[in-house]
Amino acid sequence: MSKELSSPNGTHDVLPPQSRRWEFLIGTFSELARRGGFGLIVQPLFEDVAVFNRGIGEGSEVARKEMYVFTDRGDRTFALRPEGTAPVARAYVQHHPTPPWKVWYATPAFRYERPQAGRYRQHHQLGVEVLGTDDPLADAEVIALAHDFYTAIGLSNFSLLLNSMGDRECRPAFVDTLRGHLQSRVADLCPEHVATASENPLRVIDCKKPQCREVISQGPVLDDHLCEACRDHFGAVGDALDAMGISWIRQHTLVRGFDYYNRTTFEFVSHALDGAQNAIGGGGRYDQLVEDLGGDPTSGIGFGSGIERLLLARVAEGISDDGLDDVRGLDAFVIDTTRDVRVTSLISSLRHAGLAIDRAYDSKSMRSQFKVADRSGAAIALIIGPTELEKNAVTMRWLRNDNDMEPVSVAWDDVARTLKRWRGK
Ligand code: HAM
Repeated sequence: MSKELSSPNGTHDVLPPQSRRWEFLIGTFSELARRGGFGLIVQPLFEDVAVFNRGIGEGSEVARKEMYVFTDRGDRTFALRPEGTAPVARAYVQHHPTPPWKVWYATPAFRYERPQAGRYRQHHQLGVEVLGTDDPLADAEVIALAHDFYTAIGLSNFSLLLNSMGDRECRPAFVDTLRGHLQSRVADLCPEHVATASENPLRVIDCKKPQCREVISQGPVLDDHLCEACRDHFGAVGDALDAMGISWIRQHTLVRGFDYYNRTTFEFVSHALDGAQNAIGGGGRYDQLVEDLGGDPTSGIGFGSGIERLLLARVAEGISDDGLDDVRGLDAFVIDTTRDVRVTSLISSLRHAGLAIDRAYDSKSMRSQFKVADRSGAAIALIIGPTELEKNAVTMRWLRNDNDMEPVSVAWDDVARTLKRWRGK
């Protein structure tokens, strides 16, 4: 016998019925995005590696250590998408949509990380991007969409961290000051940043190692170096969030891991999750990204949220999945011992009427069909034996014990209507 194969380390199969939780999240997100004026974007899972080297920055940790880069049979170098923002900017440059361009996505992302709970080599993000405006109200709306989404899926134990990273005008002077500070304390940094601090000083700010944290806490603060325009922008974002009743915390060290960010950066952290993997979503403004990918100057703002982490946060907050059975649950299971083709036709017409119906295959006995029906999670059984067939009727009865209604005989023409009534549809 051949060796059994399994999914690669750090990846997961999502199977029914647990995948209902995914349908719930994706469905909720798509509805909120639609209400916010966003359209769906679907893109290739791999791109020219330059999209990411230029987009997220060759110096970023993800580009240096975590990208899945490969050469295809035509000798072209591609990368599996480690994130969704640079590809959206690439599409903007390629297709010249009319700004402001508002898109949402549900996408896998691939990063060669050390797998652990909440950190995977293939994770999945729900996100939005707005390209073609630098209006701080767009920042506030994007942040509010994330906030509303988390609330809609039941989360409440989370905080919004907010910062401004400055822009091309004011950040270089801060980076120089920071570089000077780090050089004077280089011996105190963690081993990785001893080597890279002067090349990319901003990366040290979000280093989690205690040595680096100590050095950073004694160094210059970005906020003291913001120019007036960045200060005004940040103030307007904060005011709009306050007006919507969304509370936020200023976090001066929130610089995020990609080089494309400027001005607004934000992260939502769950207090129910373990510290290192507690970011349920993050994003920010990127006003040079489109230019870096060869387009005209175009501002952008967006966020991405990890589906797996949101599901972990729901579990950690003790949110029940009970109601989800009904999101896509079966309305009825047909138990048919006749194998008459008219039963197949009845099932098809019930499905056309919008009902979710399943059946057993392979000529099983009534008893074993009932077992399959119980396992299916269907609410109601539609039983068809020779007697029912003769009368063009079904016997309808509840499958779960929580309903003691007597079984009833219902004519085929009436099954859809009766089922809908029983199901409260
Ligand atoms: P990110 O912070 O790298 O940002 O990822 C967004 C979210 O994806 C994180 O907050 C987390 O929930 C989830 N996530 C990231 N890496 C993993 C992983 N290895 N395993 C499980 N979940 C993970 C971005 O990707 C930006 N493109 C977001 C953005 C959109 N910025 C502007 N627009």
